[in-house]
Amino acid sequence: MPERRKLIAGNWKMNGLRAAGLELAKDLAGRLDAAGSVKFDMLVCPPATLVHSVAEAVAGTPLAVGGQDCHVAKSGAHTGDISAAMLADSGSTHVIVGHSERRQNHGEDDALVSAKASAAHQAGLVAIVCVGETLEQREAGKALDVVGTQVAGSIPAGATAANTVIAYEPVWAIGTGKTPTAADVAEVHAHIRKAIDGRIENPGQARILYGGSVKPSNAAELLSVDNVDGALVGGASLAADDFWGIAETC
Ligand code: G3P
Repeated sequence: MPERRKLIAGNWKMNGLRAAGLELAKDLAGRLDAAGSVKFDMLVCPPATLVHSVAEAVAGTPLAVGGQDCHVAKSGAHTGDISAAMLADSGSTHVIVGHSERRQNHGEDDALVSAKASAAHQAGLVAIVCVGETLEQREAGKALDVVGTQVAGSIPAGATAANTVIAYEPVWAIGTGKTPTAADVAEVHAHIRKAIDGRIENPGQARILYGGSVKPSNAAELLSVDNVDGALVGGASLAADDFWGIAETC
């Protein structure tokens, strides 16, 4: 089986005004160009306001650009929302769906996340489907059950290893500086690998990212865990040196 190429993805969340966002993206694209052949794919997911300008600024370089969310509909009366087709039209190749901040702050459930992933596929985008347990669920010994249920409910028909990436982000590790042990990450990722069997075509080739307080100092350990095929990075993706430092550990 061919080796899965690591994906280092940056989720800028609601951060980045135009000047700083463009500078960051151009810096990363320049480093990728200068590095030539690297062992990872790199993606940035700026806020929606910057997707088009960032995509234009890095066009022709290996740096990919994605959105952070999409609506299930292609168009229509959905004030404030953005469709997957609009993201694709703006230069995105990927979109994050089901991030825990969307699940918590916007009441998104697995069925909606699955519908969003399906909308992403129909627009030709790769859906990065996020799953992860809360601290309470982990302490109650339910992490594997919760993540398994989220995977089962959030992956739509038609998912393939090419159009779907899973991101395991334990909610309690996001932005807290805390990370699970390598053994815990290995256990959950192995569980996800099994759970996608029969749900994603070619499951052995599907990439499963880890997210939650990834930084240059812990990236080598986390990225060397079995079935960890990359990272979804929040805070540390906002500084080129940190984000590049994470990627370089691949
Ligand atoms: O989607 C990435 C994210 O939730 C992790 O954030 O700041 O802990 O790297 P952070």
